Amino acid sequence: MEKIERNAPCWCGSGKKYKTCHAAFDDKLKKYEKEPYPLPTRDLIKNAEQIEGIRKSSKINIAVLDYVAEHIRMGMSTAEIDNLVYRKTTELGGIPAPLGYEGFPCSCCVSINSVVCHGIPSDDTFLEDGDIVNVDVSTIYNGYFSDSSRMFLIGNVSEEARRLVEVTEQSLQVGLQEVKPWKRLGDMGAAIHDFIRKHGYTVVKEIGGHGIGLEFHEEPWVSYISKRGTEMLLVPGMVFTIEPMVNMGKDDIFIDEEDDWTVYTEDGSLSAQWEITVLVTEDGYEILTY
Ligand code: MF3
Ligand code: CO
Repeated sequence: MEKIERNAPCWCGSGKKYKTCHAAFDDKLKKYEKEPYPLPTRDLIKNAEQIEGIRKSSKINIAVLDYVAEHIRMGMSTAEIDNLVYRKTTELGGIPAPLGYEGFPCSCCVSINSVVCHGIPSDDTFLEDGDIVNVDVSTIYNGYFSDSSRMFLIGNVSEEARRLVEVTEQSLQVGLQEVKPWKRLGDMGAAIHDFIRKHGYTVVKEIGGHGIGLEFHEEPWVSYISKRGTEMLLVPGMVFTIEPMVNMGKDDIFIDEEDDWTVYTEDGSLSAQWEITVLVTEDGYEILTY
């Protein structure tokens, strides 16, 4: 760790003197250096101004999802959902982060039934009676990123599919109880995993959440099958997503060979996902995308 003179400006960019800003924090962090799991690097710790930026981006992000919630209908094509997302995001002064991201062709991901995530909106895919649908919206505003997704139930959804969607949403609350500074990120993933397994479902291993804020995808990678006491140390100012993918059947998945994006459950079983962007605060967490 770089040594800073106590009266010099703090490394976090707050403009405050180091001694009144992150000096005590650095001392505390030092005590964790001997542990075998990673510590957050300084670029992962957001200052007040950056948090405000991410908060504003998150406000747009939720407004877009609220707009989708108002307009989503049986019979609608997934391209129409994409249109809603593009229109609302840009109307509010934002940019849809997925558009052009590593070649992704649309403004959001729409994942129906056995599609786990990264479904590409299409003019030929229509929402049908009984579908469970994830709409994943990621927003850039003034250079700051936010990311969240929700499930929507179309028409008459079976009791067991409804249950999957509910339990997946509840798992976020279970994970959040573990989000506290100086705890390990692995505690959060373990709590979600235990909860999901208890309900007889499985959690996708290969795809996880991510740090976010100044970039779309930052460190750490966020697993939902992690072990307690492992993974990155949580500290105030970190921002990351919680976005478990929960399958009704086996946890195995495959990626569509043609489009190279769409992720399916291997056994064709239903999959659900909810996503929130979360800030680690001085004494716990704050959900930014609420
Ligand atoms: N919201 C997704 C995530 O959590 C976005 C995947 S990248 C995209 O990372 F290009 F497909 F949007
Ligand atoms: Co995400």
